[in-house]
Order: sequence, then structure tokens, then C-alpha cells
Amino acid sequence: MHDILEQLEKKRAAARLGGGQKRIDAQHAKGKLTARERLEMLLDQDSFEEWDMFVEHRCADFGMADNKIPGDGVVTGYGMINGRLVFVFSQDFTVFGGALSEAHAEKICKLMDQAMKVGAPVIGLNDSGGARIQEGVASLGGYAEVFQRNVMASGVVPQISLIMGPCAGGAVYSPAMTDFIFMVRDSSYMFVTGPEVVKTVTHEEVTAEELGGASTHTTRSGVADLAFDNDVEAILMLRRFFNYLPLSNREKPPLRPSGDEPARLDLSLDTLVPDNPNQPYDMKELILKVVDDGDFFELQPEYAQNILIGFARMAGRSVGIVANNPMVLAGCLDIRSSIKAARFVRFCDAFNIPVVTFVDVPGFMPGTSQEYGGIIKHGAKLLYAYAECTVPKVTVITRKAYGGAYDVMSSKHLRGDVNFAWPNAEIAVMGAKGAVEIIFREDKADPAKLAAREAEYKARFANPFVAGARGYIDDVIQPHETRRRICRSLAMLADKKLENPWRKHGNIPL
Ligand code: HXC
Repeated sequence: MHDILEQLEKKRAAARLGGGQKRIDAQHAKGKLTARERLEMLLDQDSFEEWDMFVEHRCADFGMADNKIPGDGVVTGYGMINGRLVFVFSQDFTVFGGALSEAHAEKICKLMDQAMKVGAPVIGLNDSGGARIQEGVASLGGYAEVFQRNVMASGVVPQISLIMGPCAGGAVYSPAMTDFIFMVRDSSYMFVTGPEVVKTVTHEEVTAEELGGASTHTTRSGVADLAFDNDVEAILMLRRFFNYLPLSNREKPPLRPSGDEPARLDLSLDTLVPDNPNQPYDMKELILKVVDDGDFFELQPEYAQNILIGFARMAGRSVGIVANNPMVLAGCLDIRSSIKAARFVRFCDAFNIPVVTFVDVPGFMPGTSQEYGGIIKHGAKLLYAYAECTVPKVTVITRKAYGGAYDVMSSKHLRGDVNFAWPNAEIAVMGAKGAVEIIFREDKADPAKLAAREAEYKARFANPFVAGARGYIDDVIQPHETRRRICRSLAMLADKKLENPWRKHGNIPL
């Protein structure tokens, strides 16, 4: 017995030491925490239950038989974040560069299977050189097993990836199938093939940072949702983010009581929208003034900035916010913004999080680059996402709601539950100027006549009453009472039940 306990302690110590002190020091020298330090910071104190500390790889090639480290490069188990259950894995870069072996994959699969059974999120802290090269196809098989589980877990339990080191090859595809990706600036990279391969194949010279750093993926590719300055900031923000999410699709979002009165009025909103319809204003200010405690957890703030997405709370319950942003491209919907918002709406719908939509949209973005890029197909993603969405949907039109974009942005016709408009809302096929230039083309030579037509069109359509007369909006509300009206609507909708017809799955335009 004594021997066994001694052996146990020895193995535990070896597992804790990972790839050895030298490699741990190297990890620290790069400004990175180790796999265990990261978990310690992520989880509530003393809540971590570790599994599979003694798992070893089974590879005998390339001298690997004598090169085994208990745990095999990934720390797995479960714990709590602010008292709520979560399953975690944290790849240990000090062990074979965090590369994924068959055994390493099995550890991840085991916790994912368990997370699905009990209904709790999975958080992966990724720091990996990809498939373990010495293992060949066994490691590829391991990846595919993880991918399969990512897909099965999608929409069942939230999956979040924190990218905290180089992630190459297979190491990027598992995160790609999770719901949210956070990265750490200057120490994390994601690419399918690294700069060396790029140089060989396409003759492009590019640094790892340019190819797949946090800035690339949060501004250009849209692959990642957020970037943070270091491991500590990323982990602490992840803890905050976790609080917005239900544990699974069987739960409602968590309630977090707030002192912020749901009936609070904000008079400054009455002057937020400028008189000139072409002048932008700060939609984020509106969001901050309406949600609980001015607390808005924005996602993808630097990508497709013409639309804003993120989580907030209203009367204590999580809501997903989607808002056109008149400050960028006048709030037009384009390819990127449609995809950005569509994926977010689908996440909210999968996890019972109500969607609150603020609309100020002049339409879809015209132009060859958009048409050639497939705006028809990609814009349809957002249309599809709102139309299939069955969670409570509350919409506020703050100014323009023109054309197809009016339909798309959670309109009554797409089963918007409560649709409000501010008094200055303009709900029409297009702006007055464009409209009269088309329907009164014969008056084009006569600017005075055209101006009169424009004024007539404006008087007829640049208001919320035409839509109101048809019941397309439920009420015209004063901007200052927006919070109160949304909170009431959400309370009314708390037990909403709506089901889509049975089918194997729909066919969203991908
Ligand atoms: C085994 C690996 C490894 C790997 C790194 N190491 N990647 N061991 N398999 N894939 C080991 C190194 O040998 C080294 O061991 C240690 O990890 C640290 O690596 P370094 O290169 O010293 O670190 P660094 O300079 O920081 O570079 C990190 C790196 C680089 C960018 C990740 O190591 C790299 O490019 N690795 C290969 C990436 C890759 O091509 N992976 C396969 C992708 S194919 P020692 O003992 O010296 O500490 C793939 C297919 C799946 O994943 C596809 C599914 C769809």
C-alpha cells in the first residue's frame, strides 16, 4: 500500500511538472501561464476535479516509447465558475508542444461526453502544435473524434475556446466549431498552415502574427470574437462572459438580480437621434442606457462594425443584443455584418436567450464587391436566422427601416413578438430621395417638382404610422421609456412557447 501511494505521488508530481521546469520557464518567459495555472485562475478556488492524470500515449515510434509524461499534454476535468458547473481542458505546451495524440484526444472526448450527459458547458484552453506528428494517423483520428463531439454538442451545451498559444492544423478546427473564440494578443495564433508552408506554396512572406494573430482574426477574418492583452485578462473576462450563458439548451439563462430598476427612464434618449436623417449617432450609447447597469458584453467589436452584437441583462436575465450601427457604413447590412449577426442570433436561439434588436438600417449594401461576394446568399443567413428563431424577440426601430433590411431585422413578419418604433421612425421601401427618383423619373428635369414629390413621399412614409396601421409595429414609444417597455415585454414573453415544424434539419444558405 505504501509503495502504491508513493508511486501515485510520484506520478502526480510528474504530471504536474509537465514537460519540465525548463519548458515551464520558457512558457513563462513568453508571458504565458502554464496549463494548470490557467485552470487555477479560471475556476473557483478548490473546485477543480482533475481526471486522467495518469493517461499516457501509446506511441512507440521515433523514440516515443521512452518519452512519456503522465497526462499526455492536456489537463482535463470539471470545476465551477462562480458556483456553476463547467467542463474544461487545458493543453500543456510544455509537453510535446501541446500536440494532440490519440490518448490526449480521448481525454478531451471523455469530458465532452460527460458534459453532454449532465448538460454543462465545455471550455477549452488551446495551446497546441496540432496533430502529434510522431503518431501519424492515430492523432488525426483523435482530432476527428473531437470534431464529431464538437458538432454533437453544438446547440446542446455552450462551447468556448480560448486560444492561448500557437494553434496550427487540426488545433484550429475544433475551436472553429465551438460557439465563441477568444484570443490572446501577441502570444496566440490560429492558422491552417503556418508561414513556412504559406511561403512554399503561395510564395507569400507573412509573419505568424499577420497570418493568424489575434488582430487578424478579430478585424479581418472574423474567426475570433475577442482579443485580450494577456492570459490573465482573457481568463478573467471569460469568467465574466460565462455568467451570461445558460449551462445547456435545457436551461433558461441565469438570473442575476440588479439594483437597476426595470422601469428606469432615460430622458437623454429623447435627443439621441439627430433631426437630420443622414447624421449618425452612437447606437452603443443607446444600448448602454437601456440595459441593466450599463453593462454590455460586446462581441466582435472590431469586425463588421456596421452591426453590434453582444450580451447584456434586462431585469436580471441575459439577452442577446443585435443593433445596426449608423456610425459605420450608415448601418447598412453587408456580407460580413449579416454573417456576424446571423451566427449570434442562432446561438441565442439555441440556448433560450431572448433577442433584442435595435434597428436603424438603410438597406443592404449595394455594389459589385457585395454582389460578387454573394450578398444574396450571406444576407439570407441573417434572414434565415431571425425567421427560424423561436426565443422571445423584441425589436425597436429607432430610425430607418428600409427595404429588405426592414424585413430581415426581426420584423413582425419574421415572428417578432413585440415590435416598437420610436416616433421618428421611417419604415419604407427606401429613402424618400431614392424613391421619387424612381417612381417620378419624368420629373427628374424639374428639381422643384421632384423636391415636392420627395416632401410628399416623406410625409406619407417617413413615419411609423403606415406600419402601425397594419399592426406591423405594436406601439410607437418614447425613446426615454425604451428600457421599461422592453423589460415588460420580456417579462410577458418569459414563458413563450413556439416550435418549428419537425424536420431533420433546415438548409440555411451556407
Ligand atoms: C509533436 C510537436 C508538435 C507536433 C510542436 N512540437 N509541434 N511535437 N507534434 N505537432 C514539439 C516540438 O518538437 C518541441 O519539442 C515543442 O513541441 C515546442 O515546439 P517549438 O517548435 O520549440 O516551439 P515554438 O517555436 O513556439 O513553435 C510552436 C509551433 C511549432 C508553431 C507550434 O512547433 C510548429 O510549427 N509545430 C508544428 C505544427 C504543425 O505542422 N502541426 C501539424 C499540423 S497537421 P521540444 O522537445 O523541443 O520541447 C494537423 C492535421 C490535423 O494538425 C488536421 C485535422 C483537420
